[in-house]
Amino acid sequence: MTTSTLPTLPHWETTPPDLGAAIREAKAALQERIAASGRTVEEVFAVVEARVGERVEEIEAAKERGENVWPVIDYADIAAGTVPAEMVELLRRRGCAVIRGTFEREQALAWDQGIVDYVERNRFFEDYRGPGDDFFGSVGSRPEIYPVYWSSPQMEARQSDRMAAVQSFLNHRWTSESDGVQWFDPDRDSLYPDRIRRRPPGADSGGLGAHLDVGTLDLWMTQANQEAFRHLFDGSVEQYDPWDAAHRTDGPQYPGTTMCSVFRTFQGWTALSDMAHDQGVLHTVPIPEAMAYLMLRPLLPDVAEDEMCGVTVNQVFPVNEEWHPLLMRALSGIPDVRAGDTVWWHSDVIHAVAPVQDQQGWGNVMYIPAAPWCPRNEAYAPSVREAFLAGDSPSDFPEEHYERNWPDRFKAEQLNETGRRGLGMM
Ligand SMILES: [Fe+2]
Repeated sequence: MTTSTLPTLPHWETTPPDLGAAIREAKAALQERIAASGRTVEEVFAVVEARVGERVEEIEAAKERGENVWPVIDYADIAAGTVPAEMVELLRRRGCAVIRGTFEREQALAWDQGIVDYVERNRFFEDYRGPGDDFFGSVGSRPEIYPVYWSSPQMEARQSDRMAAVQSFLNHRWTSESDGVQWFDPDRDSLYPDRIRRRPPGADSGGLGAHLDVGTLDLWMTQANQEAFRHLFDGSVEQYDPWDAAHRTDGPQYPGTTMCSVFRTFQGWTALSDMAHDQGVLHTVPIPEAMAYLMLRPLLPDVAEDEMCGVTVNQVFPVNEEWHPLLMRALSGIPDVRAGDTVWWHSDVIHAVAPVQDQQGWGNVMYIPAAPWCPRNEAYAPSVREAFLAGDSPSDFPEEHYERNWPDRFKAEQLNETGRRGLGMM
């Protein structure tokens, strides 16, 4: 049977009013479509489970040998175009990497101090009104997450040649062109403003449980996502490729606390302090194909008809021992990083932040993803431009607007060509 004769799927381009009813309808239709392709959901899931299981065992073996699970790539090799082929292959296999020395350590430390000076000059701690959302906690009255978007350090990093080279290298790991469509431009990033985290020495933090940021129920329910994950539902699961950008840059995401309006090839951050691997750092399940497992698991018969293994709107997509014990075995932390290193993970990759007690040293990062230019990102750019010019919080984030009256925020005349291109100003 060809895919064109399979039953079509119902879709919801905005959050369905009755979630339970929509889940029941979507699941039944997905199950029916898989059955019509001549395979059972169990068979399709078993293919994915075997593929992911191989990777889990490979990762467990690497850990036992005392090897780094996370690929570590030197920025100098990216700049010179000399990243070893086996390292590029490992990056595709793991879906995450540390890029050593993306910036000079002194530069990153100066940026960290620059952010402290910026918020202190503008009396941020005196004015701080508490977290604007409940996703990240805070330490005492001083936040860990600074809802600050337009400091010179952030903008200098976002529009730097070094950041552009790394983003381009990462974007090129994806297949950006297929069926005569260029889904995104790997050599142009859209400037995506995000926040800063500064976690002080001595901090206790509960961390963040394993989760996904790429979507929630919309992953099964919008037409663009049904197209993007088509191979999981049409009997051709062997062709599913987590690096295929086809239809990934079309879709809206249902609104929620971690909603991201743009398409990101990789989520990422720039280290502004040295961080040891055992001080409450980022972990991933370094298997991009695990996404197929997450997408198919709720369709198995042991999950209630109106249940998606805990996924719902307005909460992060949870990954846990109850539904995904195989995946949890592969959870792997970053190695020690130094200020100026950048850390990246494929936007479908499951991630978590480990808890820490009495943290040694600072844990400071600025979030800067790789978000290549595409229609979806171009559509978000005007609101970013307006927020930049007004000093507003970007529309993906709580409306806190601390920087509106801060006179020393980064100015339009300080934008270089990369910055202007990223904001769609040329
Ligand atoms: Fe996240």
